[in-house]
Amino acid sequence: DTGHFTYDPGFGSTASTKSAITYIDGDQGILMYRGYPIEQLAEKSSFLEVAYLLLNGELPNKEQFAGFENDITHHTMMHESQRNFFQGFHHDAHPMAMLAASVASLSAFYHEDLDVDNADDRKLAAIRLIAKMPTIAAACYRYSIGWPFRYPRNNLEYVNRFLHMMFEVPSEPLEMKPVVAKALDLLFILHADHEQNASTSTVRLVGSTGANPYASIAAGITALWGPAHGGANEAVLKMLEEIGTPDKVETAVKRAKDKNDNFRLMGFGHRVYKNFDPRAKIIREMCHKVLEELGVNDPLLDVAMKLEEAALKDDYFVERKLYPNVDFYSGIIYKALGIPTEMFTVMFAIARTAGWIAHWIEQHETPGSRIGRPRQLYVGSDTRNYVGMDKRK
Ligand code: SDX
Repeated sequence: DTGHFTYDPGFGSTASTKSAITYIDGDQGILMYRGYPIEQLAEKSSFLEVAYLLLNGELPNKEQFAGFENDITHHTMMHESQRNFFQGFHHDAHPMAMLAASVASLSAFYHEDLDVDNADDRKLAAIRLIAKMPTIAAACYRYSIGWPFRYPRNNLEYVNRFLHMMFEVPSEPLEMKPVVAKALDLLFILHADHEQNASTSTVRLVGSTGANPYASIAAGITALWGPAHGGANEAVLKMLEEIGTPDKVETAVKRAKDKNDNFRLMGFGHRVYKNFDPRAKIIREMCHKVLEELGVNDPLLDVAMKLEEAALKDDYFVERKLYPNVDFYSGIIYKALGIPTEMFTVMFAIARTAGWIAHWIEQHETPGSRIGRPRQLYVGSDTRNYVGMDKRK
């Protein structure tokens, strides 16, 4: 009677989905990708290496990584007619709307190799999606501010190539401190996958019908957009701006506890973590380092720190085990890196594409996978007979 339904993965049970990709222990605050603790991957790996791990189940050796990186680099361009597709958008459309529509349209440009039962087609789709997401994301941003698109540069690595497409202008060379790309790469690692979250479950459900990978990932993008999910990072910044100064934090905490006030502390709470989100701990540390290295003194960080301190000692939050989640600090870092607020969830989508497509492929490779068919608890009317309109009251 929780209103939640059980997703029947087709294993003949109503158990939850089986997957070998990501493990979470919500009570211990543990997150592992293919058995590797997120803390180790955050410290030692790169987003592209993590994408390989999520897709293939093993960390790549030098030759495997070089081949994967080469594949990605040579699939970064959009189909030229897709650039025209953007002309149909209103210039101030939300980038997530443009991203979802553009990714869905990939199945209109790559319709010749969409055989979901063909392993090579599935792998090619994974390469194309991971490669093109930054190109499309940057195009969404450039279109929204009326700047010309930038072609992906093959001589740049994944994150720097994205930053170049986002911010390079003809009038001056792009100068970025190395900490920007390093921080972005780390944020992409932390957002790359997270088990059966709402958007990944959406991708699996849509994929279980045999829908093509681009349509399935586009469905994941739209699910991620919601403020209760990936849209929370944008909502956190708006909440911190609404609170404004640290002295207003107490009032915000009071409002968040008031059932008659639909004010929630965005960036707090999690369906699974009833302990600190391990990603939030890593991002919190990185946040201070990045702001210091960039010499950014963001008063919103003071508000965030005060809010965290107030919530963590308030019974309402402690009893409900509401801790800061991955979205609480990421927005402050994105802002410090120069990413505009309405692009925050797009950043999340770039990273989560690796996890989404890994799950989509895993489902296709799992023997006996059937169409997902969630069930429900029926709480409607008992059986009753039709009454003609002239006899109705
Ligand atoms: C992500 O699933 C994933 O893995 C997601 C994600 C991923 O990587 O894919 O981790 C990314 O989406 C992180 C979550 C981002 N969302 C937010 O920060 C939005 C704010 N958080 C809430 O909306 C909420 O905490 C959820 C949606 C995250 C979790 O919802 P739950 O577990 O269903 O919590 P609930 O709604 O059942 O709340 C339990 C209680 C309620 O109070 P009571 O009815 O018990 O009195 O806690 C309260 C809620 O009112 N509560 C909050 C709160 N979150 C829950 N009260 C104030 N502020 C909050 N943020």
